[in-house]
Order: sequence, then structure tokens, then C-alpha cells
Amino acid sequence: MPSVLVQFAHPSFYRSRIQKALVKTCKKLDGITINDLYEQYPDLHIDVKREQDLLLKHDILVLQHPFYWYSGPAIIKQWLDLVLEYNWAYGPKGFALQGKKMLSAISCGGGENAYTPEGHNSFPISQFLLPYRQTASLCRMEYMPPFVVYGTHRKKSNDIDDESLMYADILSGLASGRIQPENYRGLEVINSLGHGIEG
Ligand SMILES: Cc1cc2nc3c(=O)[nH]c(=O)nc-3n(C[C@H](O)[C@H](O)[C@H](O)COP(=O)(O)O)c2cc1C
Repeated sequence: MPSVLVQFAHPSFYRSRIQKALVKTCKKLDGITINDLYEQYPDLHIDVKREQDLLLKHDILVLQHPFYWYSGPAIIKQWLDLVLEYNWAYGPKGFALQGKKMLSAISCGGGENAYTPEGHNSFPISQFLLPYRQTASLCRMEYMPPFVVYGTHRKKSNDIDDESLMYADILSGLASGRIQPENYRGLEVINSLGHGIEG
């Protein structure tokens, strides 16, 4: 069975509605490791060896965070900068992550319509996530379509419950092998593969 590592980052977790609910739901799932980066490294001093060992033990890497300034919170960048070392993650001798998969699981204040050519943000979410996709590619990983919660400010508590169940279904589908590459290739987002499960 594929093992799933969720690298979670939220710099003001006490104020979170969406990400807090997603994390709470996935804590109930088997076969999923959640690594809260701001909890582990509040001063951003990342233990590179610990993080690399965690990556080696898992098949699927999930970067879960709110979408900030069309990217991720600072610790995600710090983690990428320090952990994905030359000749370990990439480069002529860098095969440690070869064949693994990467998934972004993000929440956005902007609604789905905002992420269109006519919308407020002009481009689809897949364009903003290109640095993550190419990072995965450079590290010989496969980048999956992202899980995206759009329009967070307008979500009511029952909407958040629905999104959390959908996310849980996707993570458990990945961990059980039910969701395979042929299911998601070509999708803009992976959300439609989650049907919601009993929490
Ligand atoms: C510093 C900051 C930057 C943000 N940048 C974006 C952005 O670029 N695009 C977007 O759609 N929403 C943006 N937002 C909205 C957040 O993505 C949204 O509030 C968050 O995903 C809600 O999740 P939470 O309840 O877990 O905090 C930003 C919010 C903050 C605080």
C-alpha cells in the first residue's frame, strides 16, 4: 500500500477555519503521517536529515497549506530550499525521490471563477502551481492535479465539512491504492475523485 506524508503548514493555525478542518479530518485516517512544519520548526530551523528520512519512508508527498500570495507560506519554501538537496533529490546522483508522487492540497480565498482568464486572478490555479510541478519533475516525481478548496471566505460550516470529507476520501484513496494515476491524469483539480466518506 502506498504511504502518504502530509507536510502541513499554516503560520496562524489558531485563526484557521479551512485548514484546521482538513487536518482534523485526515488525523482520523490510517496510513497517513501528518508533519506540522510550523509546530516542528517555529523558528524555521528545519532538521534536514529528519525530513529526508520522512520522505524516504513515504510514497506520496502532500504539501497542504493555505494559498498565500499565489504560493505557499514561507516555511514551505524554506523546506523545499533546505530538504531537496542537490545530488539527493535532483542532480546527476539525486534519485532519492524518484517515482514518488507529489500533491498540493491548498485553500484559496479566491473563488473558482477568480482563477479564469476573465477572473480577478487572470490565470487558472494550475499556472500558479507550476513551480511545484516543475520541482516535482526535476526531482523525478510525478506531480498530481491539486486538491483545491476555492472561495474559503464564503464557506459555511457544512461546506467545510463536505470539503474535509472529500479530502479524506482522496487521501484514503491514495493510501489504499484505489486512486491510481489513470484516474487523475488530465484533471485541473483532483477534487472530483473524492466522494466523501463517513468521518
Ligand atoms: C497573507 C495572505 C495571503 C493570501 N494570498 C492569497 C492568494 O494569493 N490567493 C487566494 O486565493 N487567497 C489568498 N489568501 C486567502 C487564504 O488563502 C485563505 O484565507 C485561506 O486559504 C483560508 O484557510 P484557513 O481558514 O485555513 O486560514 C491569502 C491570505 C493571507 C492571510
